[in-house]
Amino acid sequence: MNLGLNEKVAIVTGGANGIGAAISRDLCGEGVRVMVADINGTQAEATAEALRRAGGQAAAATVDVTDEASVTRLFTDTVDRFGRIDILVNNAGFTRDMRITRMGMAEWDAVVDVVLKGAFLCTRAAIPHLETQGGGRIINISSRAHLGNAGQANYSAAKAGLIGFTRAMALENGRNHITVNAVAPGIIDTDAVRSLPHYEKIRDAAQKTTPIPRIGDPSDVASVVVFLASKQASYVTGEIVHVTGGRY
Ligand code: NAI
Repeated sequence: MNLGLNEKVAIVTGGANGIGAAISRDLCGEGVRVMVADINGTQAEATAEALRRAGGQAAAATVDVTDEASVTRLFTDTVDRFGRIDILVNNAGFTRDMRITRMGMAEWDAVVDVVLKGAFLCTRAAIPHLETQGGGRIINISSRAHLGNAGQANYSAAKAGLIGFTRAMALENGRNHITVNAVAPGIIDTDAVRSLPHYEKIRDAAQKTTPIPRIGDPSDVASVVVFLASKQASYVTGEIVHVTGGRY
């Protein structure tokens, strides 16, 4: 199937590792020119280099999505490098889990800022470019945690907020043929999850309690993002696609 993605240009935030790296890889595989944008510039360059070696068109940028000037630079650099922007994937994010009574301002602000301020700044920077192109795609990586997880007040609130943001942006930008959707993954086997102290327990529990009895793979999320970026998804907007193996 022709997904209509050849020679489009995408920015993937948090693209150096895990889910973002899989999204970058699968978009590249469809002929998209990808800016791998990450706070870890060295790893972003390594990921972009691997994509180029595999025949893709990719470049790397160091960005802190919570910093307005840094985000402005990312968009200028992307246009300088690739000439246009069609797709933004707001994927950068992390957890700082603890009970609410132990949670400090630092843990609250860090998680809310990377998820919400990051999506706000990148989306605001992207819209004028997508309007110039006559349309485009914004895909926000939320989480199943938007339904609420114990020990994740900051993360659950931020990822639920990202869904409200997604729907507001879908309503605001539909007339310009810009679709805005969210993907809400369950537990996905990335370094971020593997580094948790109880990784084996988490993986075994996923096998036992998930209707599709395995932990998710980054490519499970990436393939949904590729669909949402495609021309076939041009009438899909404001949606939340859960990629959880059926676990709620
Ligand atoms: P990861 O830790 O492997 O990758 C996240 C990337 O974001 C890293 O490369 C990191 O350097 C980058 N990053 C962090 N702060 C940044 C900032 N301020 N500016 C730019 N880049 C920044 O994590 P993973 O597991 O691949 O997660 C990716 C996204 O998927 C996150 O938003 C996460 O919340 C979400 N998610 C992950 C799930 C999982 O089970 N792994 C489940 C549900 C959602």
